[in-house]
Amino acid sequence: MNYIKIFAPATVANVSCGFDSLGLAVDGLGDEMSFTKTLKKGVVIKQITGANLSTEATKNAAGVVALAMLTKQNADFGIEITMHKGFLPGSGLGSSAASAAGAAFAVNALLGNVYTQLELTQFAMLGEKAACGTPIADNVAAAIYGGFVLIRSYNPLDIVKIPVPSELRLVAIHPQIEVKTKDAREVLPKNVLLKDAVTQWANVGGLISGLYSNDYNLISNSLTDIIVEPARKHLIPHFDLVKENALKAGALGAGISGSGPTIFALCKGDEIADTVYKTIKQTYQDKNIGFNMYRSKINAEGVNIIESK
Ligand code: HSE
Repeated sequence: MNYIKIFAPATVANVSCGFDSLGLAVDGLGDEMSFTKTLKKGVVIKQITGANLSTEATKNAAGVVALAMLTKQNADFGIEITMHKGFLPGSGLGSSAASAAGAAFAVNALLGNVYTQLELTQFAMLGEKAACGTPIADNVAAAIYGGFVLIRSYNPLDIVKIPVPSELRLVAIHPQIEVKTKDAREVLPKNVLLKDAVTQWANVGGLISGLYSNDYNLISNSLTDIIVEPARKHLIPHFDLVKENALKAGALGAGISGSGPTIFALCKGDEIADTVYKTIKQTYQDKNIGFNMYRSKINAEGVNIIESK
C-alpha cells in the first residue's frame, strides 16, 4: 500500500462522570486525511484545510504521531499528509485527537499493520501531548476503537471497549468560542473530597453497567459529574440553561464534551434526540453567540478507510 485516505471521527471525552477515563466516538463528524508514501524519509504536511493549524510536522498532532511511528520502525520511506478538518480545534470534540488517531491508524496501514489498537492509542497519545501538554487517552482511544471506551488504567495502558445500546443518540452544541484544553485543565481542583470521589466512581460504575444492560434509566441516573463540571462550566456561556432545557426535553443526561465548550446530551431514540436538538438550538438562538449543532448515532467503527492503493 502506497496511499491511504481515512476518516477520523470527532469524540466526546469524559461523558460526565468519567474524567480522563471515558470517551465515545461521534458518527459522521470528523476529519478526512490522506497519507502518501514518499521516497524521501520524514513527514511533510502538504496542506491543512478547515482549520488554521501548523503544517510543521513537529508541531502538529498528526505529524508528531507519524514521525514517532516511522522512527520506531526505522522505515525506509517518508509520508506526505494532507488533511481536511471537519470541525474546529478548541471545540471539546477531540480535534487534535482525530488528527492523532487518524495518523496512527493510517501510518500503521502504510507500515503493513504492525501495531495493535492499544499500541496505536499509545502513539496517538503523543499527539495529544504535543497539542495540549498531557498525553490524555480518552479522545484518541474512542477515535481508534470506536463506540464507547473506558481507560481502565494509564500505566500500564488498559482500554476496555464498552457496548453501546442501539437507541443511544448524541446531540451537541458547539458555541463558537475557543476553550484550550490546557486552560480548562488549569481550573481543575487539585484535591477532591472522599465523599465526592465515592459519588463519582459509583456513577462511572452505574454508567458502564447501564451501557452493558441497555438500562437507559441507569444510564440517565449515572450521567452526573460533581467534580469537573462545576469547576469548568463558567467557561461555557449559558451552560446551566442548556443543560436544564435538554433534561426537560427528555435527554438522559447532558454535560461538557471533553474540556468544552461543546455541550453534549445523550438521548434515547431519534424522536427525543430531535426534540432535544430543537430545544438546545432555541436556547442559544437569541444569545448573540454563533454556534454549530450536531446530532448523531454513536460511531461504532472508529477510524475507517475511505480509499487505499
Ligand atoms: N479528558 C480531557 C479533559 C479531554 O477533560 O481535559 C480533553 O479533550
